[in-house]
Amino acid sequence: MSKKLFIETLGCAMNTRDSEHMIAQLKEREGYDTTTDLKEADLILINTCSVREKPVQKLFSELGAFNKKKKEGAKIGVCGCTASHLGDEIIKRAPYVSFVLGARNVSKISEVLHKDKAVEIDINYDESEFAFDDFRTSPYKAYINISIGCDKKCTFCIVPKTRGEEISIPDELIIQEAQKAVDTGAKEIFLLGQNVNNYGRRFSDSEHEKVNFTKLLRRLSKIEGLERIRFTSPHPFHMDDEFIEEFASNPKICKSMHMPLQSGSTKVLKDMKRGYTKEWFLNRVEKLRKECPDVSISTDIIVAFPGESEEDFEDTLDVMKQVEFDQIFSFKYSARPHTEAEHFTNVVDEEIGSARLSHLQSMQTEIIDKNMQKHLGKTYEVYFEDLNRDNYVSGRTNANLVVKVKGSEELLGKFKNVKITQIGRTICTGEIVE
Ligand code: SAH
Ligand code: F3S
Repeated sequence: MSKKLFIETLGCAMNTRDSEHMIAQLKEREGYDTTTDLKEADLILINTCSVREKPVQKLFSELGAFNKKKKEGAKIGVCGCTASHLGDEIIKRAPYVSFVLGARNVSKISEVLHKDKAVEIDINYDESEFAFDDFRTSPYKAYINISIGCDKKCTFCIVPKTRGEEISIPDELIIQEAQKAVDTGAKEIFLLGQNVNNYGRRFSDSEHEKVNFTKLLRRLSKIEGLERIRFTSPHPFHMDDEFIEEFASNPKICKSMHMPLQSGSTKVLKDMKRGYTKEWFLNRVEKLRKECPDVSISTDIIVAFPGESEEDFEDTLDVMKQVEFDQIFSFKYSARPHTEAEHFTNVVDEEIGSARLSHLQSMQTEIIDKNMQKHLGKTYEVYFEDLNRDNYVSGRTNANLVVKVKGSEELLGKFKNVKITQIGRTICTGEIVE
């Protein structure tokens, strides 16, 4: 009988892909099968996120709960970004943890599994060319890493300290992986990196041909049978005209762009070391909408960064009003260890921060309620990916609108034209039209 693996993944899409990599290694080399029942697991993995403080607190309470519920002899491993930055402190605080494996060391999962109290957290470890075994959570869509680490120095962000310096994965390996995904039924690929449009800046092999992100997209789009290409996250600083024009004109690239704004104030952006101004961001949105009028735009915003005045916050609201984003992921600033901003003293009062966050979120809700109306009665091509519990099947339009229709699993992996009959804030309902 195979051994059982229970894995919980927190945080971003990159963590989802890292979990897939670990599952693949554990299946192929160690004879594990996944389970959703913690009590029958022989190995429990938590793949952690450390971008904000909350998930870190959650980790220790969760570890305690897992330790109580686990079956006798089961091992617990902590992986991911919190593993990278807390290292052996995790084992000190939770001595029942068997190993700690950093976000840049997931290829060593088999190794740490067989050592007692192993801590592998080297952020300079280069696994950009590691040939992972293959495992995908979804047969319809393949996540593919195109780089590891991040070379930016955003003053609020812990990621460069947990994932190390930025190294691009050779384009031939990415193309091979995409081809394999298509050969096994996926029609969509989702390219992942902290800074995807900075692709090609550095490869492990210094002789590697200089391929930038635009070139990579062109090469990938030649794969026959591949219908949709998505990616996250591009950095507004690197959104040059060539990239926007390729995005707009390449029919395989889905017309939804994530543009992490962080703040609308040029002063705050400077303090964050984001490398662009409010005007540059608005100029890029204008160019993008001119080249690609149907594009949907999502963003990340941080409120109450140290030194953010009322006027700075107004600048963020102003960008929101001008752009009318289709989706916003908004956060209250959370001071993180090993970051520059951790030492900034002009901290914004907690209550002011919470008030700004709720002001921003209610403004966004109004924008969404107004703009979603335009979808009513429209027909879009939907790629169905998920079977919902209530006899509905859901998928996404090219511009990333989530749509559900009544139906069963035979719709999965298929493209259908769907007329939108009901609008929601995050998901619409529709009917298939022939
Ligand atoms: N490279 C990615 C960022 C990864 S972190 C990108 O550009 O999209 C994901 C998001 O978490 C960031 O965009 C930011 O909005 C938020 N974030 C990061 N550090 C944070 C902090 N210290 N406090 C609050 N939010 C933070
Ligand atoms: Fe973080 Fe900025 Fe990189 S947000 S992941 S340091 S681009």
